[in-house]
Amino acid sequence: MTRTILVTGANRGIGRELTHRLIADGDTVIALGRDAAALAELGCRTVVADLSRPETLAEAVSSIDHLDALVHNAGIAEVGPVAELGLDVWQRHMTVNVTAPAELTRLLLPAVRAARGHVVFVNSGAGLSAGALWSAYAASKHALKALADALRAEEKPNEVRVSTVYPGQVATDMQRQLKKSMGAPYDPEKVMSAGTAAESIRYVLNVPAEATVHDLRIAPSNVVPHATTMRR
Ligand SMILES: NC(=O)c1ccc[n+]([C@@H]2O[C@H](COP(=O)([O-])OP(=O)(O)OC[C@H]3O[C@@H](n4cnc5c(N)ncnc54)[C@H](OP(=O)(O)O)[C@@H]3O)[C@@H](O)[C@H]2O)c1
Repeated sequence: MTRTILVTGANRGIGRELTHRLIADGDTVIALGRDAAALAELGCRTVVADLSRPETLAEAVSSIDHLDALVHNAGIAEVGPVAELGLDVWQRHMTVNVTAPAELTRLLLPAVRAARGHVVFVNSGAGLSAGALWSAYAASKHALKALADALRAEEKPNEVRVSTVYPGQVATDMQRQLKKSMGAPYDPEKVMSAGTAAESIRYVLNVPAEATVHDLRIAPSNVVPHATTMRR
């Protein structure tokens, strides 16, 4: 049966890999992002919206009334010591990584409930433990875990399933940028491919409705640990 699945951050990285796979599976994907031209290349239905402005989301998704799955994939990551991370960095992380997914979930819950659907959060290993330099990103991802866990408990009577996927390092623009800002070498071969990360999300979506993957942790086998200081 064809499912309708909304994927945020569908135009790049893990989201793009996931979108291609779901379209190939025969699902109807609604790709949400802020870059209309990049979204158009995906060849599916699109919603142009900026998650850094959660107050605009209601209008953007107002036409969606039936949703089998909502995949919160979009995210941002910046690193630095607490001593140096400015207010803007904290606010950006909380808005894009937590407040926007919460607001989007609230707005789309009637559509998800109507389908007895599934909400999937793409979190991070940093959502389970925080190392040096990762405070803002890790705090936002810890908060995203709290959002997912509370939602799972609340929506059980409505038969809405809630899952979180916690990937380790993935070879995307985000990882390349993080390594650059830490002054650390980046070798895409030493981390997980975006395709492998996307496959783990696809697996969670494809588990039969009689069961729910609450949490799935997936990490590269031979990962190089993150630097704990910025090399400048
Ligand atoms: N890469 C990793 O090592 C890694 C590890 C663990 C978890 N994750 C998580 O996996 C998810 C996907 O990350 P990725 O590695 O694929 O990152 P990516 O390649 O940097 O892609 C991020 C996606 O999020 C979108 N996005 C960012 N800010 C947005 C905004 N304000 N409004 C709408 N869309 C926005 C981007 O759209 P634009 O093109 O418009 O910027 C892009 O589509 C994130 O939640 C990330 O935290 C990544």
